[in-house]
Amino acid sequence: MAETTIDLRGMPLAEAYDELRSQTDAVLHGIDDPVAAMATISALIHNAFGHLWTGFYRVVERDRLLRIGPYQGTLGCMEIEFGKGVCGTAAAERRTVIVEDVNEFPGHITCDARSRSEIVVPVFDAGGQLIAVLDIDSVEPGTFGDADREGLEQVVSWFARGES
Ligand code: SME
Repeated sequence: MAETTIDLRGMPLAEAYDELRSQTDAVLHGIDDPVAAMATISALIHNAFGHLWTGFYRVVERDRLLRIGPYQGTLGCMEIEFGKGVCGTAAAERRTVIVEDVNEFPGHITCDARSRSEIVVPVFDAGGQLIAVLDIDSVEPGTFGDADREGLEQVVSWFARGES
């Protein structure tokens, strides 16, 4: 069984994300439940890297509204409109958004003042519908780059592949 959360800090990022993806697939084997997957993926990523905040905002009104889903960290904002903040921008544009310094991102929504940089990755289901975004916040500026984008897009591809 692969239920133990592992610390991946210090490992090359591509390798760390490969490990995360295999662990996600192993833990979620036989499970066909997006909320269970969001909770599991949040816990795995959060503990693997020691981020400030790791979690999902779910699409509750298509093209209009995101609402908090499973997460790890301090209290998150309840709802975010499409187009607002980093999460709303990633949702509206259906693309991963990397912010190296949140103070430079107009309209950034501050849930925890310690957040300095973040990455938000869109999550699609098997039909290509946007169902959520994965939001990760860091206390350090410039934490996230292309390797994180590639790795995290792979991890959330679970939702498009379904249970395996
Ligand atoms: N950083 C997000 C808001 C959500 S919290 O940080 C948990 C944003 O600007 O979209």
